Amino acid sequence: MKLTINLPGTPSRASEVLIGEGTPAELPAMLAGRLGSRAAYWIWDERVWELWHERVEGYGWPPMESGRLILFPASEMNKRLNSLENLAQQMVRLGADRQSALVAVGGGVTGDVVGFLASIYMRGIPHLQIPTSLLAQVDSSIGGKTGVDLPEGKNLLGSFHQPQTIWMYPQFLETLPPEEFRQGMAEVIKSAMLGDRALWEDLEKHTEAIKRREGDVLLRVIGASCAIKAGVVEADERESGYRMVLNLGHTVGHAVEKVSDYQVRHGDAVAMGLVTAANLAARLGKLAYDDVSRLEKLCIAWDLPVRIPGPCSPESLLAAIQSDKKRMRGTLHFVLPVKIGEVMVYDRLDPEELKQVLLALRTEA
Ligand SMILES: NC(=O)c1ccc[n+]([C@@H]2O[C@H](COP(=O)([O-])OP(=O)(O)OC[C@H]3O[C@@H](n4cnc5c(N)ncnc54)[C@H](O)[C@@H]3O)[C@@H](O)[C@H]2O)c1
Ligand SMILES: [Zn+2]
Repeated sequence: MKLTINLPGTPSRASEVLIGEGTPAELPAMLAGRLGSRAAYWIWDERVWELWHERVEGYGWPPMESGRLILFPASEMNKRLNSLENLAQQMVRLGADRQSALVAVGGGVTGDVVGFLASIYMRGIPHLQIPTSLLAQVDSSIGGKTGVDLPEGKNLLGSFHQPQTIWMYPQFLETLPPEEFRQGMAEVIKSAMLGDRALWEDLEKHTEAIKRREGDVLLRVIGASCAIKAGVVEADERESGYRMVLNLGHTVGHAVEKVSDYQVRHGDAVAMGLVTAANLAARLGKLAYDDVSRLEKLCIAWDLPVRIPGPCSPESLLAAIQSDKKRMRGTLHFVLPVKIGEVMVYDRLDPEELKQVLLALRTEA
């Protein structure tokens, strides 16, 4: 499957997403064909390199000795400006110039850091993404957002820089720890809920096959999730309006992350946010309670939380949402599901309604 994300502006800004197209052995030739005379420099998530280098070297991917490969110890803690400087210095020493290109192999952290580096290295060079985590394959590699964190907050420095090509190889997920897979599933559930009923039904029907990471169903799940994100991004590259629908479950999700001091992980927080949005929509008469139950059931099947831990009180969550809203200088746009596969943007939310829902979902622990 091949998706093209056509962005407003010149045709050269199109980004292609290859999903299950070509084998790893065919990849070097595929890249060469796309990069022409540009020399590719590879930045790998160190952990993924450890797990995969023997296999991919066998397929003709550049080995360590090629002099065009850099290992990056990817972690949220290293998603910082000083990593960018460190990687850039290594590139200069290895001879990368403005005729070079970057290839990122790793999860969302590697993709965000390498994308940002590509956007500023010698005023910008092309880059390609080979995402290896579920979250990166279904979400972060699509859309062209890059960035690093500051001590004051996540993703506060960054740029928009569309990868030329994004190559999805679902087999990478074979080595992804189950906990990381579970976190990524929250985004898949979000995508299905906001825009694809058929994907939703696939998720309900094939939970066990997905858990076994069977190639054909994974390919469908990744393809459908990418298509949703690509479709939204294409309509609204710079997040001015419509892209907001991708925030389904994220208003409350981000608040939970913040209030828990990032002790609750992103996927878990998104699941809580989805369940909150669904219950709120049902309370407002916009979503059937049957659909709320289907969402909760699917989350439970993935061991994703459907209740909000006690320490995240409704008051503290509302305060976090209000401060986010202030930063965005405006009204609170709340994305609500109206049925499975369809959302609306609701901007007349009475905080008291939300408070009641948060209260009802709160647990003791
Ligand atoms: N740019 C965007 O639009 C966007 C969207 C969503 C999230 N993000 C960002 O993405 C990041 C989270 O991404 P993530 O969850 O992939 O984090 P990550 O890159 O830290 O990867 C998670 C863990 O999985 C490991 N890993 C990755 N692929 C593996 C594989 N195939 N086998 C074994 N281990 C593997 C990594 O080494 C890491 O330990 C956050 O920093 C977030 O801000 C960006
Ligand atoms: Zn998310």
